[in-house]
Amino acid sequence: MTRHLFVTTALPYANGAFHVGHIMEYIQADIWVRFQRMRGNRVHFVCADDAHGAPIMLKAESEGISPEMLVARIAAERPQYLNGFHISFDNWYSTHSPENELLSQDIYRRLEREGLIYRKPVEQFYDSVKGMFLPDRYIKGECPNCGAKDQYGDACEVCSSVYAPTDLKNPYSTISGSAPVLRTSDHYFFKLSDPRCTAFLQDWISRDRLQSQVANKAREWLDGEGDRALGDWDISRDAPYFGIPIPDAPGKYFYVWLDAPVGYLASLKNYFESGRAAAAGEARGFEDFLSAPDTEQIHFIGKDIIYFHTLFWPAMMKFAGAPYRIPDSVHVHGFITVSGEKMSKSRGTGLSPLRYLELSMNAEWLRYYIAAKLNANVEDVDFNPDDFVARVNSDLVGKYVNIASRAANFITRHFEGRLAYAGGTAAMLAESAQAAEAAAASYEAREFGKAIRDVMAIADSINHAFDANQPWLLAKDPGRRAELQDVCSRALYGFKLLTVLLAPVLPDVARRVAREFFGLDRDFAWQDAAVLPESVAPYAHLLTRVDPKQLDALFEPATASTSEPTPAAPAAKASRAAAKSEAPAQAALISIDDFSKVDLRVARIVQAEAVDGAEKLIRLTLDLGGERRTVFAGIKSAYAPESLVNRLTVMVANLAPRKMKFGISEGMVLAASGDGSGLYLLAPDSGAEPGMKIR
Ligand code: MSP
Ligand code: ZN
Repeated sequence: MTRHLFVTTALPYANGAFHVGHIMEYIQADIWVRFQRMRGNRVHFVCADDAHGAPIMLKAESEGISPEMLVARIAAERPQYLNGFHISFDNWYSTHSPENELLSQDIYRRLEREGLIYRKPVEQFYDSVKGMFLPDRYIKGECPNCGAKDQYGDACEVCSSVYAPTDLKNPYSTISGSAPVLRTSDHYFFKLSDPRCTAFLQDWISRDRLQSQVANKAREWLDGEGDRALGDWDISRDAPYFGIPIPDAPGKYFYVWLDAPVGYLASLKNYFESGRAAAAGEARGFEDFLSAPDTEQIHFIGKDIIYFHTLFWPAMMKFAGAPYRIPDSVHVHGFITVSGEKMSKSRGTGLSPLRYLELSMNAEWLRYYIAAKLNANVEDVDFNPDDFVARVNSDLVGKYVNIASRAANFITRHFEGRLAYAGGTAAMLAESAQAAEAAAASYEAREFGKAIRDVMAIADSINHAFDANQPWLLAKDPGRRAELQDVCSRALYGFKLLTVLLAPVLPDVARRVAREFFGLDRDFAWQDAAVLPESVAPYAHLLTRVDPKQLDALFEPATASTSEPTPAAPAAKASRAAAKSEAPAQAALISIDDFSKVDLRVARIVQAEAVDGAEKLIRLTLDLGGERRTVFAGIKSAYAPESLVNRLTVMVANLAPRKMKFGISEGMVLAASGDGSGLYLLAPDSGAEPGMKIR
């Protein structure tokens, strides 16, 4: 029976480029979706930019552009990542869209009709210079407990005590610097505490459609008592706000988390109404599809947004009523870390997905590596460079691709590409059918690591059988041709089986194998695992090994910078030019305050040495007028280390330290570069002293 699946990934905030956490989520969902499509199920796989909210509004303002312009700029960057990593969304849309406005307002009106919306005054900090209510993250002040300065409104980073923003002493707005005042305004609430809601949610989370860890979390929230009881949800924000207006409530907007998940539906609606769903064979309209009993609505999300997806969102859908549907499952993944380190919200990890692509690293290596590490639990996944090289090279190249290249060479040389199986194939086919079903069960359950382990075990046994038959000896004996052809044919059927089972993970390799190697005029479907191939084309290159140097380049600073993962890699000139044409010719405007956040200092290079194992790096010891700093700078292509000693240069002294493969880098030195390969370290005029501030 064909399943009808509506699959989404979380909508990324439209105020920054994708980081590897986003890419990992898309890879996980994409593997699952591709698997479903190969099984003959119909999938509509959509996502969108999460465009609304105060941070996006303020970021746009600080760049001197409208939020629409900021969102459009970010949206324009998305395809190169999505195409680059072979993510097969059917539609990528935006929450800042007519469809989303219509749907969000419709859902709101239905909730209102159900008696689940009410209004009450709320007292909050207000920035009277800026003229806006302050989200908590824009308020700082002194810790009420220990007096530490510049603490955020929720918790103290010094003594770890937790409090409300209104508890801060001498609070100030990080937007204008002024002291906020308390001001009252009416807010709209979604009545989650309504007994109908809590009863519905209790039932919803107990229905076995959530991972047990996720259901437990949701139950904890739902069963909280007193202070920790599930409160009603504040769904409105006052103007100025970049969002969707609340009907009949001038100056009030939906809080971004209300319209964000509705964006799933907006993207689907846009996909249907653009005619593309119909072109893909979907006969029904948006509403009919959504409300059909056999539709399955499935969300892939990370562990940090469980709350929204297991409480607010299902309750919204439930009480909005048909054609809206309650999610059928929410699949939650853990976070990706890099070499054991958590990712910082602002700086991402050292692993920039764009840099990965610009270095011409193969996207399918990363897809494979992530797949091999994923299971159905909410567990973090670590990207470890050495492990990455080992896995990709030994599994994909050493075990999988090798079968094809070795066996096909005999078939091409001696049999003009024709395959023939001597003796019975029933046992082999029965075994494959079993393996294919086991892999299917693993994919279905999102146990990708298990699927990969099982598939690699099959690859081992195919290689083993091939070697045990010593085809290179058979080839020398004209009397044993039939045997040679049989041994190679079985190996190549095995290769086909492996390719089908790996196709959700390696879509590009699988496409080439299907079309170019086995001569199909379509991509593989799951049933192809059971079909013996009759011929092969001469083996053509499929997949290269990872060169460990590529990982050094991936984690090395691009220019003199040691902190930002984003700049284009000097190694990939062509793609760098391409990336450049998309970047604005001039950086966005900043205020003098923004500039003064950068602590630029004159520094003397007191020591400079090459770094073992890093082609481009020099380890610099800098004197800042007493204080010493270690900085790794990617300037070896332009300077011999010894030529740098005693020079004065300019450094960013307040860059957060960054842990690199070779040690901790405590800042960065500045250098100029253009389109060519030249790199020019900055130097102050004579008379400047180490430690002097640059302003
Ligand atoms: N805009 C909201 C989601 C709205 S959904 C209606 C949001 N955006 S986000 O950009 O911060 O995160 C998008 C997705 O990326 C989330 O599922 C989040 O869990 C995931 N990840 C963010 N960092 C991650 C890792 N380090 N690792 C894996 N996934 C991570 O939240
Ligand atoms: Zn404190």
